[in-house]
Amino acid sequence: MRGDFRRPVLSEILTLIDNRTSKEYEIEIHDGNIRAKDLRQIKVNDDDFGMMSYDPSFENTASCKSSVTFIDGDEGILRYRGYPIEQLAESSSQLEVSKLLIDGELPSEQELSRWVSDIKANNSVPEDINNIIKAFPVSAHAMGALTSLEAALSTFYPNSKDIADDKENYLSICRLVAQVPILAANFFRHTQGLSIVPPDNSLDYAENFLNMMFEGDNKKLHPDLVKAMDTLLILHADHEQNCSASVMRNVGSSEPDPFSAVSAATAALYGPLHGGANEAVLQMLTEIGSVENIPSFIEKVKKKEVKLMGFGHRVYKAYDPRAKYLKLAADKVFNVTGTNPLLDIALELESIALSEDYFVARNLYPNVDFYSGLIYESMGIPKDMFTVLFTIGRTPGWLAQWKELLSDKEQKIARPRQVYTGYDSRDYVSIDKR
Ligand code: CMC
Repeated sequence: MRGDFRRPVLSEILTLIDNRTSKEYEIEIHDGNIRAKDLRQIKVNDDDFGMMSYDPSFENTASCKSSVTFIDGDEGILRYRGYPIEQLAESSSQLEVSKLLIDGELPSEQELSRWVSDIKANNSVPEDINNIIKAFPVSAHAMGALTSLEAALSTFYPNSKDIADDKENYLSICRLVAQVPILAANFFRHTQGLSIVPPDNSLDYAENFLNMMFEGDNKKLHPDLVKAMDTLLILHADHEQNCSASVMRNVGSSEPDPFSAVSAATAALYGPLHGGANEAVLQMLTEIGSVENIPSFIEKVKKKEVKLMGFGHRVYKAYDPRAKYLKLAADKVFNVTGTNPLLDIALELESIALSEDYFVARNLYPNVDFYSGLIYESMGIPKDMFTVLFTIGRTPGWLAQWKELLSDKEQKIARPRQVYTGYDSRDYVSIDKR
């Protein structure tokens, strides 16, 4: 059964009394919510702009209706298009999940094979992209490079600006899903002083990516690691209106090409409070160094001198279901690679944190980034590529959000309001009088 947004709207009324004027207002409730714009009728006098809702960081503002991803943060539930994430991680593949997210339904065999062949048909980047890659310092952070390279792709595909053309959009979607991993792998090879490995269309999506990174290294291309990579990509594929998805929609609302919007979303993901947390967790575990140092680290967290990276979430107030699944996936990876010495610190940190009042009172649990970095590191992936992997996984989700935005007749260019707190009008003072 589909979510409430599809049900016929039951109109209910919220009655508000403005004690400044003693006026009463009736505001319609739809699906349990009111429209922020309906508050605008609340005025002290006719010249008044009208009331707004003030919501820094959008903690209680729905910016769209969406049928892509469902999260119940209290129960720790995550579903893509209604399908539980655990079932998809267990039984599906990255490209099948991408198609599900973007188009709304699990594809038939024929639809899936068409989609896979369309991805493979776009599985190469323009040659000059590789020249741009060569210009990056080898010490550059991979996310800085990826953000630039995604934006650069738009210059090679100028027709992608024609977002009113569904065929062009489909082509852009295929190019982005196919080429973001190539940008990532080619940049990685550049930083290692290694020659580029061309994409291999005989391989599956995750295997092709790992092969472009580590061709010839059979240990890193072990089938269990390929499977783990595919699962990681699925677990990261979408997460409703998070910071980067909101950026994708905000930028998309001014109607640029999707390469530019994905580049902006990637920049949002880069930060350590969002996708960059996977790298920050590894840094933190390395700095803690050993299990004996955990209590003093926890004390610092409680004094708010540092954050426990990989913990906490705006929406989840229970164990992040992705983290739960990743903890299981980690065992399969460690069976192949040997355990990661930082795992003991992570497990002990988690067990202490989950029993400490500070974390319990604030509902702070491990999120997706707590264990993913340990897995990536064990797979031989360098730290500054971790968030790149998140980007590869999340690109189909951003594209699903973007496609939904384009078809949503209620959406216009995103343009929040502000509560102005600055000076009233004042006269310019020449520099000698200041
Ligand atoms: N370590 C210590 N204290 C924390 C943490 C943490 N990781 N996260 C939240 N808190 C505290 C916070 O200080 C606040 O305390 P108080 O009520 O005393 O002021 C309380 O918990 C509520 O936190 P908040 O900052 O209001 O929560 P938020 O919804 O604004 O922030 C968050 C969510 C994910 C940015 C935050 O939990 C955080 O910074 N976590 C660490 C970074 C991280 O792991 N990010 C990855 C998120 S999951 C992957 C993704 O989707 O990107």
